[in-house]
Amino acid sequence: MTQKMAVDYDTMIPNNVGLSSDRRVLKALERWHPGYIKWWGNLGPVGFQESKVYLRTAVSVDSKGWAKFDYVKMPEYRWGILLAPQVEGRTIACGEHYGEPAWQEVPGEYRSMLRRLIVIQGDTEPASVEQQRFLGKTAPSQYDMRNLFQVNVEEGRHLWAMVYLLQKYFGSDGREEANEMLRRQSGSAETPRMLGAFNEETPDWLSFFMFTYFTDRDGKMQLEALAQSGFDPLSRSCRFMLTEEAHHMFVGETGVGRTIQRTCEAMNEAGISDPYDVEKVRALGVIDLPTIQKKLNLHYTLSLDLFGSEVSTNAANAFNAGIKGRYQEIKIDDDHQLNNATYAASQFIDGKITSMDVPALTAINMRLRDDYSKDALGGVKRWNQIISKANIEFELKLPHSGFHRKIGVFDHAPITPDGRVVTWDEWEKSRDEWLPSKADGDFIQSLMKPEWEPGKYANWIAPPRVGIDNKPGDFEYVQLHMA
Ligand SMILES: [Fe+2]
Ligand SMILES: [Fe+2]
Repeated sequence: MTQKMAVDYDTMIPNNVGLSSDRRVLKALERWHPGYIKWWGNLGPVGFQESKVYLRTAVSVDSKGWAKFDYVKMPEYRWGILLAPQVEGRTIACGEHYGEPAWQEVPGEYRSMLRRLIVIQGDTEPASVEQQRFLGKTAPSQYDMRNLFQVNVEEGRHLWAMVYLLQKYFGSDGREEANEMLRRQSGSAETPRMLGAFNEETPDWLSFFMFTYFTDRDGKMQLEALAQSGFDPLSRSCRFMLTEEAHHMFVGETGVGRTIQRTCEAMNEAGISDPYDVEKVRALGVIDLPTIQKKLNLHYTLSLDLFGSEVSTNAANAFNAGIKGRYQEIKIDDDHQLNNATYAASQFIDGKITSMDVPALTAINMRLRDDYSKDALGGVKRWNQIISKANIEFELKLPHSGFHRKIGVFDHAPITPDGRVVTWDEWEKSRDEWLPSKADGDFIQSLMKPEWEPGKYANWIAPPRVGIDNKPGDFEYVQLHMA
């Protein structure tokens, strides 16, 4: 078993799925490869393709010591296909086939549902690379630049992971879908990416950190749900992706945390105690806490939309079929079929926010979204500790799930961040207190000056406590080669 899990680096596409003896799939992937490299060149990180970046590459799927670090030019990164080890005797975790052996091949009756789930997941991966492609130019340090590129190459690898499943298990329509992944483009009017949040801009580094904290965390929840799939290759693929995803959320949490830290330090040095004295705080060249709250509001609510409608028959069907489970399905103590079970789902009726018990089977999205919100709270608490340690009176909060929504029961409902229903007039009048305004964006943009000298940090962000791979503070994470 361990023998089989070793990663083969001899083929052009590193893998632990035995590609060298699977000629059909190897050929298909080799045919897809040039298009991918072309996409990376056109829509990947702008301006740093020739620079050598200190990146981790997965060399094993062993949970201890699975990565190695080295300098690599991004276009030469070894994107590979890696599945977590097969669990002997694994059974289907939920739905009407609960307890039957997990599928090693695609079950015919669920083929199109399964393909669609894989395509939607796959589509988000290149989308975020596209959204983040201009950020290298304004990196606040080499450390941050390296983290950005690490996230980017791994999202690229996640695309490979989904494309492998499409090419191996879905024949010619899988191949067609794999090609479409490189044709859609984030923010494009004609061929946009499939989900809303992945067509938004990531205009500055605070957005990037909020995105990796909140939107990559949606990714985590989706991968967790797909890791419970009865289709074993998908489960194994997602389980390994989750180990990489953890770093993306670390980049987000610590990035926001360091931004807050620096703001608090600068306020204390200048003797400013009122966080709402925005002009004075901004004059210090740091991002005021109310603006950080607005950015949080924006990225959190865009991410909530990714969970879909609270009540959904598609989600019920996927669960019932056993191809997408709940968060930590196997740890839940129930029948895993949701016979007779109910779940409280949000409602917005006659201008009032309520909730109603609905069949739990139909509220799978709502439940995953609730689990997400709980998960997202941890970092917010830690951010607030930074603020209170600095003796500043301010508390960041997750806004109400009805605020600023475009999907589900709260779609375009005039609800405030603290969950009050107001008139549209009132809502519009206060919009700029709740969400980043153009002026906020311009201000943040004015701080986005690159700092590329090893060990130095832009004024608006504090250095990290430890380096990547335990490297010292002045480590050269990127050997810059400017074209
Ligand atoms: Fe990803
Ligand atoms: Fe990610």
